[in-house]
Amino acid sequence: MLSRRHAIQLGLTAGALGVTGATGYTAQALGARDKPGPATRPAGPVTKFSVPLTRPPVLAPVRRTAAADYYSVVMTRSRREILPGTSTEVLTYNGSFPGPTIRARSGRTVVVKQVNALDMPTSVHLHGGANPVADDGGMMDTIAPRGTRTYTYANAQPAATLWMHDHAHHMESEHVYRGLSNLYLLGDDREDALGLPSGEFEVPLVLRDARFDANAQMVYEMDDAFNRTTILVNGRPWPYLKVKARKYRFRLVNSSNLRIFVLQLSDGSEMTQIGSDGGLLEKPAASPTLTLSPGERADVVIDFAQYKPGTQLVLKNLLGPGPVEEVGQVIRFDVGERVRDSSRVPGTLTTLAALRTPTVQRSFELNMDEPGTGEQGYINGKSFDPNRIDTTVNWGTTEVWTVTNASTLIPHNFHMHLVQFRVLERDGEPVSASEAGRKDTVLLLPGQSVKLQVTFDSHRGVFPYHCHLIDHGGMGMMANLKIV
Ligand code: C2O
Ligand code: CU
Ligand code: CU
Repeated sequence: MLSRRHAIQLGLTAGALGVTGATGYTAQALGARDKPGPATRPAGPVTKFSVPLTRPPVLAPVRRTAAADYYSVVMTRSRREILPGTSTEVLTYNGSFPGPTIRARSGRTVVVKQVNALDMPTSVHLHGGANPVADDGGMMDTIAPRGTRTYTYANAQPAATLWMHDHAHHMESEHVYRGLSNLYLLGDDREDALGLPSGEFEVPLVLRDARFDANAQMVYEMDDAFNRTTILVNGRPWPYLKVKARKYRFRLVNSSNLRIFVLQLSDGSEMTQIGSDGGLLEKPAASPTLTLSPGERADVVIDFAQYKPGTQLVLKNLLGPGPVEEVGQVIRFDVGERVRDSSRVPGTLTTLAALRTPTVQRSFELNMDEPGTGEQGYINGKSFDPNRIDTTVNWGTTEVWTVTNASTLIPHNFHMHLVQFRVLERDGEPVSASEAGRKDTVLLLPGQSVKLQVTFDSHRGVFPYHCHLIDHGGMGMMANLKIV
């Protein structure tokens, strides 16, 4: 949740927890390094809330055995309708934008055969998954054009909202922007037993922004936060969703390259967060706002039974950059009839592992050339070198990492492959309930510092950690961790 102090750090002053104009401080502060470019409007304006929300298709296994599900995915360049009545060239997994959802179960193996039918190298990373190096989809471990690669995921971790995305070095930013990402929903029996809303009442909301030209084609420029002002949910602009007057579970992912969302319902009522990156929270956390930086996930229950049938609720975004009429709105929920609802949100959702005693402390400083002075990103003063090991840890150790955003205007976040960490504090204070669970990505506003605790007890090998404002990772804000 966005505290008043954080709001002030973002330049959102009292009474203006809204999106400022494109020239305001907020816009500058939110990762936009340059002035807005020439206005790029789609061919014909998009009427907000005029297209229904669609759900990414759920991928069917090509084969099932007693222990594993086998999937087959082909990466292709395709055309999809994003803006109504137009056709946009996108990069897809199996032709869908965003890619199809994989449903997996804890303890049951998933094997995905990825065929790269594109004309450039790709790499597929399961973000939030604890997998060996060979299955992690590393930046340098790419699938050549026309090549095939099989990734195996043991799913030795609890239920969680994970996602998959391209990670080919220097290309991941554009690849993800153009469509190469998909949800990976990991379930387990303990979660099923909770009685949370399910089936048609469990809805993925994959949020992102994009910039379109006059021909409805996506414009990709590095570090272009200012101009990506069309908000997409599950690949459609500002959709609406007809809901029944009952509880819904929403699986939110911020798949944007740079945009941070601070979400709030238009009536200001509380949303109940039940999970974060790595799975369920111990207890539901109610808050009127929900902050999601790129790569972060939130599992949220909204009870529409509190509204009269016919109510229209907009999920708003309180943060820039961009004009409030555009980036300030995300999706509209149109509340319909009351129905019987036997779903529940129990007061205890899971039990997190007790924190072990840390034996090693380290510090990391994220920095980036300030606007106009260069285009490099750094961790501890160094830009990424794939051949350099930046940090070596011993398998089995528990460490506390203090990560600081040294930029004065630009927000960053911090993502580690392989592990789920726990955020102990932000700027010396305990974090809010929504950030107290298993996390793999954590937001760092300019000047902020977080302490994370992490135990390296799964796989050995070299894994990256990086800023997940993906353009920044591509600019060098990435480093290598070796677990020996
Ligand atoms: Cu979401 Cu290095 O990844
Ligand atoms: Cu990752
Ligand atoms: Cu960054």
